Amino acid sequence: MAKKAAMPPKCLKTEMSETVTPVPTTAPQEAEILAALGTRLVVLVGMMGAGKSTIGRRLAARLNLPFVDADTEIEAAAGMTIPEIFEVHGEPHFRDGEARVIARLLDAGPAVLATGGGSFMREETRRRIGEKAVSIWLKADPDVIMRRVRRRADRPLLQTVDPAATVSRLISEREPTYQHADLTISSREVPHDKIVDECLDALHAKLINPAPSIEIVSAAR
Ligand code: S3P
Repeated sequence: MAKKAAMPPKCLKTEMSETVTPVPTTAPQEAEILAALGTRLVVLVGMMGAGKSTIGRRLAARLNLPFVDADTEIEAAAGMTIPEIFEVHGEPHFRDGEARVIARLLDAGPAVLATGGGSFMREETRRRIGEKAVSIWLKADPDVIMRRVRRRADRPLLQTVDPAATVSRLISEREPTYQHADLTISSREVPHDKIVDECLDALHAKLINPAPSIEIVSAAR
């Protein structure tokens, strides 16, 4: 079998011994966002099933940032699953733990953080996110949410006789608050990379001063 030609390393000396600049690992738009973020995180908020973890993981990869899932961190801190925390200690205890874990993650430096759907409802958590992060609300329609949450039975709030009605109620209670996120992106049934691209475009537009627009004057006037 023919041997594959060895790939040159990313930073190498040429035969003339001049140093070749390392290949950047992020594209220009991503690099600009990263620089403008500084120490801030990107925090994804929105309903269960809105795609915060799926999109967050891909967004983090594009930005070359760590991805952190608040629910996973809460479970690790408690040594219990979220359904177990709800069952043993109740929702108020879960919400206090959730607020503490998110506060710690916000202090830990740049990352993409996917938050649990109810966490942004707490005023103190919203304030902290506002100080330490740029937030994106992944806004999804009830039918999209229902299609996605039906696949898993690990959301205690949806263990009701009519989960669709519960989702509708939570959406109407929460949407006025989710609107306080810095950016809103519609999460729908399109390839994940399209939503990630839209998040990056929105972050770029928010964080980087847009180029001054050139006024085109019609010659026919
Ligand atoms: C909740 C959402 C869940 C999890 C918990 C409560 C909520 O996270 O934190 O079941 O109140 O909406 P996801 O939004 O990641 O599903």
